[in-house]
Amino acid sequence: MSTLSLLERYGRDSAGSRVIALRCRACGFETPVHAGNVCDRCFGPLDVQYDYAAVARRLTHASIDSGPPSIWRYAGLLPVELDGDEPVTLGEGFTPLIPARNLGERLGLRNLYLKNDTVNPTGSFKDRVVSVAVTWARRKGFGVVACASTGNLATAVAAYAARAPLQAVIFVPCDLEAAKIRGTTVYNPTLVRVDGSYDDVNRLCSELADRVDWGFCNINLRPFYSEGSKTLTFETAEQLGWRLPDEIVIPVASGCQFVKHHRAATELLDLGLVPQRPLPRFTGAQAAGCAPVASAYADGAATVTPVRPETIARSIAIGNPSDGADVLRIARATGGTVAAAREEEIAEGIELLAGSEGIYAETAGGVTVSVLRRLAEAGRWRGDETVVAYITGNGLKTPEAAPAHVLDDPIRASVRAFQERFPSLG
Ligand SMILES: Cc1ncc(COP(=O)(O)O)c(C=O)c1O
Ligand SMILES: [Zn+2]
Repeated sequence: MSTLSLLERYGRDSAGSRVIALRCRACGFETPVHAGNVCDRCFGPLDVQYDYAAVARRLTHASIDSGPPSIWRYAGLLPVELDGDEPVTLGEGFTPLIPARNLGERLGLRNLYLKNDTVNPTGSFKDRVVSVAVTWARRKGFGVVACASTGNLATAVAAYAARAPLQAVIFVPCDLEAAKIRGTTVYNPTLVRVDGSYDDVNRLCSELADRVDWGFCNINLRPFYSEGSKTLTFETAEQLGWRLPDEIVIPVASGCQFVKHHRAATELLDLGLVPQRPLPRFTGAQAAGCAPVASAYADGAATVTPVRPETIARSIAIGNPSDGADVLRIARATGGTVAAAREEEIAEGIELLAGSEGIYAETAGGVTVSVLRRLAEAGRWRGDETVVAYITGNGLKTPEAAPAHVLDDPIRASVRAFQERFPSLG
């Protein structure tokens, strides 16, 4: 599309707008703000470009503090110009940052924190990105929002579309966990189950996005959608008393959020909202059955060789991660790493997290905690570093992944029967 027709279709964001263009991450080429995620010049990914001088004039700790207890307190660093309008929100974000003393003691980490994103409205961090994408789509006049999903995104898009209200068309691989399907169909979207992997679903949606005038949250709306992830890191810094941690451990599928957490930390430093210090180390966590980025990291490669996923961690089963090379670059540049948990360790990680801190995570959380444990056991930390692990999805979505416990036979409802069965308790 030419620059003129893009402006006709999307209009100019309001005068004095902080959102000035879409900028190619690879070659720097800039295009006007529109629904698109690929550079016309080099096919690189597009990111939202802000007028940071305009942002800096308005954004302070006090202005953030006076905002709502949701991602929208950081509206000044999000790509939607609300102009007094309401966003499409369910109260996503501003989730607890929990000092993990019990788990920390087990791992020899005295300043371990868990960012508990399991408590988001639909149970995953995807509510952050979808709230931004659907708000942008509604303001730009889209009637339909869509996505290619490994499960959590499907649920979030269905819920936020219901709230908007907009029509939702959701594409998923046909072997998704039952709870994720139920948790999505309840919002009544059009659900398209595809006989193939997530990577097949994503390819199909990329082709469709060229033909239909829909907002695909993680395709043509990706520059706006992905910006929503930054709020997880903004919150972490705010909840630490406006400082950045030493290291952040993040589950990696496409790598989209990983890249945006790095951007968020950079923005906070550049805007002087946190004290100057080196960037946190950014560390990625994958499951052994789908670890193309961890393998590339171990091999010292600059690019990622796609794999066919074979993992119980379906939510992060992306064999051809679009942002994989950027994850490698950021992990290396900041002194982080990208590591994989063995498949058997995923359920152990879920149980370790639940049993030590009372947080029930889905498989991506099991992967994150297992990688954290692996790295701690390998002597990565001295013990006094501030380490934050992002727990991005709720365990109620993948009940079959938690370790099964053999249950005792029931007892009769009598004190005697109880004492007989549990002599040491009664
Ligand atoms: C719970 C959960 N954690 C982490 C991720 C990884 O996100 P990304 O694709 O941005 O790497 C996903 C992706 O779907 C997810 O559902
Ligand atoms: Zn480019």
